Amino acid sequence: MSRSPSASRVALVTGGIGGIGSEVCLQLALTGRTVIAVDLATRSDRIEAFREHIAASKGAIRFEPCDVSDFKACGSLIEHIEHNIGHVDILVNAAGITRDTSLRKMDPQHWHELMRVNLDGVFNTCRHVVEGMTARGFGRIVNLSSVNGQTGQFGQTNYSAAKAGVHGFSMALARETARKGVTVNTVSPGYCDTPMVAAVPQEIRQQIISDIPVGRLGTPADIARAVVFLTADDAGYITGANLPVNGGYFMSF
Ligand code: CAA
Repeated sequence: MSRSPSASRVALVTGGIGGIGSEVCLQLALTGRTVIAVDLATRSDRIEAFREHIAASKGAIRFEPCDVSDFKACGSLIEHIEHNIGHVDILVNAAGITRDTSLRKMDPQHWHELMRVNLDGVFNTCRHVVEGMTARGFGRIVNLSSVNGQTGQFGQTNYSAAKAGVHGFSMALARETARKGVTVNTVSPGYCDTPMVAAVPQEIRQQIISDIPVGRLGTPADIARAVVFLTADDAGYITGANLPVNGGYFMSF
């Protein structure tokens, strides 16, 4: 489908009805993007909450079901969007799950389930949009990593490996697309006020919060702000970077 250059850019957000993803959708819509929230069709309670959440938005957000761990399904989704809505100019990979347990108790299933969503999902979506973006000379890709990919976390060998992998993937892809107007960056959230973090046992969560210099959990809006920044049309000189948004929980140079 062809669009005039002035038409609203299309942004696809995976994990689009999740704790961080839904706020990313909202903030992108408020900046004039046409937003497609992608998530599992099975989460009807979340879909309902999402509809209420975006009711505040004056922008365009629509929901498309897709399992990001399924390569073929991602291909069909991109085809469907390009045919019915427009080219994907902005891709935000916010789909992610945890399967926390110490390695001594970790089953291959804990490992593979997580890798399929958190790492394969990034490959599956990027693989299907990158050619179009480079051919058109514009693209913004932001992959959500995590502070725990930078530091490691007890009980998260799988998650930490995937999230560190997301950044390695993003740096490599950034090199491949740098001359074609396509930037690829990661945002690394710290502990945020989301259902994922609420699932951490209370005592451990309290300890973590007391170690955050800013003194509170992050909000989804704190993360969405960084995504909006990196996906701006004029953010073309920032690529291969990681933007940590963690309240000072992990500071590095
Ligand atoms: N450091 C050192 N020891 C620890 C520890 C830690 N951080 N956490 C637990 N232990 C100890 C326990 O005290 C216990 O000791 P004993 O055996 O002497 O009693 C032992 O380790 C427990 O070991 P297990 O092998 O039994 O651990 P487990 O399989 O039950 O897993 C856990 C424990 C569920 C992983 C729990 O430690 C936990 O939930 N940790 C927090 C994980 C976390 O932060 N997840 C983040 C989720 S949110 C997210 O990921 C978003 C994001 O990007 C930031």
